[in-house]
Amino acid sequence: MRKSYRGRRRRGLHPIVLIVPLALAGVFFLGQMRNRAPAGDSPAPPPADTPAVQGDQSPLPEHTSTNSGAGCTLTELGEEAIYTGNLILVNNQIFYRFPEEQELVNIYEEKISGYYVRDMEVFLAPAAMEALNRLLAAFLENGGSETINVVAGYRDAEFQQHLFDQSAQRNGEEHAKKYVAQPGGSEHHTGLVVDLSVLKNGVSQDYDGTGEYAWINENCQDYGWVVRYESGKEELTGIWDEPWHFRYVGVPHATEMARQGMCLEEYMEYLRRFPFDGEHLTIRCADGTYEAWYTRGTRAYLPDSGEYEVSGNNVDGVIVTRKVG
Ligand code: DAL
Ligand code: ZN
Repeated sequence: MRKSYRGRRRRGLHPIVLIVPLALAGVFFLGQMRNRAPAGDSPAPPPADTPAVQGDQSPLPEHTSTNSGAGCTLTELGEEAIYTGNLILVNNQIFYRFPEEQELVNIYEEKISGYYVRDMEVFLAPAAMEALNRLLAAFLENGGSETINVVAGYRDAEFQQHLFDQSAQRNGEEHAKKYVAQPGGSEHHTGLVVDLSVLKNGVSQDYDGTGEYAWINENCQDYGWVVRYESGKEELTGIWDEPWHFRYVGVPHATEMARQGMCLEEYMEYLRRFPFDGEHLTIRCADGTYEAWYTRGTRAYLPDSGEYEVSGNNVDGVIVTRKVG
């Protein structure tokens, strides 16, 4: 049974909270789109001049479709919609807006057997929790050993500051900036992130996503996760290679990000090319077929029926993702 931490008020830097879209007139998550998302990442943040990817003008891929616009109603979602949801971009330039309440569940209480969690105080957003169980169940089914240790999930800003200071003290500030985000700029604040390590014979080892663990890094998109910080993307993410840090974005978008080889900074710009009144992005993934569109602002067309999900981009608009097959 899931234990929820709704209602715990955060004060200042205190954490835990309930999210979201429910407040948005109950229009979010009418559907049950499948969702599947710890600490001390020693290894940190982007140079202050990390550029936001702007307006990619290259040709649209072939897998887009023209939208009919039928069966949707223009709906005011409220400002909170921009800053909540599974797709929000959080980095050292685009800070997380801590909500008054955020729903988190305790991994220790919710986990399946077959993997470890650091202690009884690691929390995740519910969708990420379910997706983590699905991912690691599949890892075990595919021959993985029972050695994964989830060492980080949700963090409040205070703990993030502690990690940054600790890393800077141990390794110098330049190193800390490469592997630890600023307080407010860490997507661990969203509850949609896990850090993995390996526990063998009682000894903890770094998770590098190689050997038997490569299966996780290569297949995580089918369970809604992306490897958030990969080498070659440092200029965009501001963070160096972190094969242990997984971000939950949902199966369709994780699949598309992996297919396009895009980090979340690139992908959020890419989605701008699919407005409601233009071509929509069509995504075929392990869960079926989805259609997605971006809307600037908070007045978006939402499907009148069927499964769909709304997420903000944490900047200026929302993305609607609808299951179509
Ligand atoms: N290690 C990642 C970048 C964080 O601190 O959020
Ligand atoms: Zn992390």
